[in-house]
Amino acid sequence: MAEINPAPILELQDVHKWYQVRRGLLADILDRDRKYVKAVDGVDLSVASGEILGLVGESGSGKSTLGELIVRLQTPTSGKILFEGKDIAHMSKQEMPQFRRGVQIIFQDPYSTLNPHFTIYRTVAEPLMVNGIRDKRELRERVRRALILSGLNADDTLLDSHPQKLSGGQRQRVSIARAIVLEPRVLVADEPVSMLDVSIRSGILNLLDELRRNLGVTIIFISHDLSTVQYLCDRTAIMYLGKVVEIGPTSKVMHNANHPYTRALLNAVPVVDPDVVRERPDLDGELPNAMNIPSGCRFAPRCQFATPECLDPEPALAQQEGGHYVRCIHPQLEPLWETNTPVESN
Ligand SMILES: Nc1ncnc2c1ncn2[C@@H]1O[C@H](COP(=O)(O)OP(=O)(O)O)[C@@H](O)[C@H]1O
Ligand code: SF4
Ligand SMILES: [Mg+2]
Repeated sequence: MAEINPAPILELQDVHKWYQVRRGLLADILDRDRKYVKAVDGVDLSVASGEILGLVGESGSGKSTLGELIVRLQTPTSGKILFEGKDIAHMSKQEMPQFRRGVQIIFQDPYSTLNPHFTIYRTVAEPLMVNGIRDKRELRERVRRALILSGLNADDTLLDSHPQKLSGGQRQRVSIARAIVLEPRVLVADEPVSMLDVSIRSGILNLLDELRRNLGVTIIFISHDLSTVQYLCDRTAIMYLGKVVEIGPTSKVMHNANHPYTRALLNAVPVVDPDVVRERPDLDGELPNAMNIPSGCRFAPRCQFATPECLDPEPALAQQEGGHYVRCIHPQLEPLWETNTPVESN
C-alpha cells in the first residue's frame, strides 16, 4: 500500500450546495417560500495526502456536485473547502494558478469530454499551454510522459490521431493524461469506469492506483458501485441525500457496515459464493427528491429499523472505533453476512 501522509490536503467544513428551483421570474419575486434542491447538505470531510477516498451513493445523492465543488466548478452555498490549508473561495491571484494546477477532475463519459477536433497531442498539451508553457520540445516531452504514465504508447501515430480513432478505454486514459499533465496533488475521478466495458475497468482502476503510488496524487473516487470502491479505496464515505451517513476504512465500511443504508447497498451487490447467506434486501422505495428532504434522519422513510426517536433531531455522525463514523441512532453492529466473503469485484 502507498504511503499516506496524515496531514489533510483537502478539508470540507459544513459544505452546502443548494440550487434554487426556478419557477418563473414573477413567481420567484412574489413567493418568499423559495424551494431549493439540496444537492449537498452539510458535508465535513478531511482527506489525507496520498489517500484514495471513495464516495459512494445512489444516483442523485450529491456525489458529482461534491466533486465539482472541490474543483471549483461550483461554488458552495455555505461552508468552506480548504486545499493545503487555504480556503479555495478566497485565494489570491498568486495562489489561484497553484490551485488550478493542483486539483483536477476526470469525468464519466470519455466519449463526450474530449474535443473531436483536437489531436491527442493538442488535447493533452492544452493545459500546459494555458499555464504558459510555449517551448515545443518541453510540451512534446511532457505530453509523452503523461501519456506513458497513463498506460498509452505515446508514439507519433497516437499523438497525431483524433479521439474518434480510440476505444473507450484509450479515451479515458487520454482524459487521465490530460488531468495529470500538470502534476496535480488531488484528482477527482467522477465514475471514471462506469461507462466502460467491464473487461477494461480493472485496467483503469489499476492505473489510478499506480498514479497514487508513483505521483503521490490524492484521489477522490466517485462511484455508485461498491465493488470498484472496495478494490481501490483506502477509506469509503457513503452519501445519502447530500450528507455523509457512514465513513471509515474501506474494510470496516464493507465488513462492519453499521448504517442501515450502507447495509442495504451491500445487500444489493450480487455475490457468486453460494455459502454467503444474505439478509433480505432492505432498500425499499426510491431516493426522495432532494427538494423535499425528510426531517430528522433523512433515511427514515426507507429504513426498516426506524423508530419515532429517529424523526427528531437529525442524527450526528458518531464515532464507532478506528476512524469509523456512523450517522444513525440504532447502528447495526452484528456482522452483515455469515461468511466474510468480500464483495465480488468486476
Ligand atoms: N445544476 C443543477 N441544478 C439543479 N439541481 C441539480 C443540479 N445539479 C445537480 N442537481 C440535483 O442535485 C442532486 C444531486 O445530484 P448529483 O450531484 O448529480 O448526484 P450524483 O452524482 O450522486 O448522482 C440531484 O437531485 C440533482 O438533480
Ligand atoms: S437513525 Fe433511525 S431511521 Fe435513521 S438510519 Fe438509523 S435506525 Fe434508520
Ligand atoms: Mg454523478
